[in-house]
Amino acid sequence: MKRRNFVDIFLGGSLLATIAAFLYPVVRYVLPSRSAGGGVQNSVTAAKAGELPPNTAKVFKFGSAPGVLVNTAEGKLVALSGTCTHLTCTVRFDAETETLFCPCHNGRFDLGGNVLSGPPPRPLETYAVEVSGADIIVSRKS
Ligand code: FES
Repeated sequence: MKRRNFVDIFLGGSLLATIAAFLYPVVRYVLPSRSAGGGVQNSVTAAKAGELPPNTAKVFKFGSAPGVLVNTAEGKLVALSGTCTHLTCTVRFDAETETLFCPCHNGRFDLGGNVLSGPPPRPLETYAVEVSGADIIVSRKS
């Protein structure tokens, strides 16, 4: 191979690699991800039965958004959206008051999703919870 051919191939390959490096992130951004599923999911296994001791909670993935599964002090399972209705921060369970708390602007919700205090304008969406064998299934209410 002549030196000139080698340089042409090397520069052409470099140019193609540079173009691919610029286009790849653009294509990934424009095309929806298969794993995201468009963010809509109607049912998910949120936890295993017995995984949550009383008065604890777990944040689980419900489609592309967080959900919160709470096992109350009385042993009742409650599931709600984990996305605060104010500015979409993820809420946390406060075991001391048995409420959901948003750390961004001190929003607070009861376990029925109702706003107790702070700036959130709407209640949290509540989900149906069902124990099926070893799984705790959380579903959107229709
Ligand atoms: S984002 Fe939750 S209170 Fe502001």
